[in-house]
Amino acid sequence: MEFFVDTADIKEIKRINDMGILDGVTTNPSLVLKSNKNFKELIKEICKVVPGPVSAEVTATKFDEMYNEGIKLSKIAKNVVVKVPLTPDGIKTCKKLSKKKIGVNVTLCFSVNQAILAAKAGAKYVSPFIGRLDDIGKNGIDLISDIKKVYSNYKNLNTKILAASIRSTKHITQAAMAGADVATVPPKLLEEMFDHPLTAKGLKIFLDDWKKTKQKIL
Ligand code: G3P
Repeated sequence: MEFFVDTADIKEIKRINDMGILDGVTTNPSLVLKSNKNFKELIKEICKVVPGPVSAEVTATKFDEMYNEGIKLSKIAKNVVVKVPLTPDGIKTCKKLSKKKIGVNVTLCFSVNQAILAAKAGAKYVSPFIGRLDDIGKNGIDLISDIKKVYSNYKNLNTKILAASIRSTKHITQAAMAGADVATVPPKLLEEMFDHPLTAKGLKIFLDDWKKTKQKIL
C-alpha cells in the first residue's frame, strides 16, 4: 500500500517526509486556500521535498481550459499528477493528458460507474471519497471494495484506487483491508496511527527496567 499525505502544509509535509514513510502528496483547492500560499510555487516546493507523486488540481470546468491548466501544472515538476474532477470534461481531459503520459488523478469519485469511467480514460489514480459518502449515510469503504472487485475483473483497468476523504484511523485500516492501492491521510491521523495504550505502557516498563540495570548503550 502506498501512503500519501493529504495536505498543502509544507511544514507538515517536510516533517512526515523525514520519517521516511511518505510515498506522495495530494492537495486540493480547499487545502491550498488553508495554506495561504501561491498555488504553483507551493506545488513546486512540495515536489522538491517529496520525490513521489504530488497531486495538483485544475480549477477550470471546461475541457480546453482544463487541459491547458493540466499541461501547465504538469510542467511545474516531473512528479506532478494532474487532478481533475469526475465530470465529462474532466474525463476527456484525463484521456488526453494520459495519452501524453501525464499522470492523472480523477477526484470526487462517489460510485463504481464513475470509477469505471476514470479507468477507461487511463487515469493513474481514482479518488473515491470515503468520508463524504459516510456523511450522507452511505458506507464509503464499501465503495473501495466494490471498485476493487470491478477493476480486478478486467486486465485493462489499471487505475490505482486512492482512498481519499479519510476521516479516522479506522478508515485507514478498512481501506487497506478493502485493497485500496493508496490511502491519502490528513497529518493529524498519521499521528493517531502511532497510538496504542499497550505501546506506551510497554515502553514505560522497558525503560524503567533499563534504568535499573545502570547500563548505557552509547
Ligand atoms: O483528498 C480529498 C480530501 O481532502 C477530502 O477530504 O475530509 O474534505 O472530505 P474531506
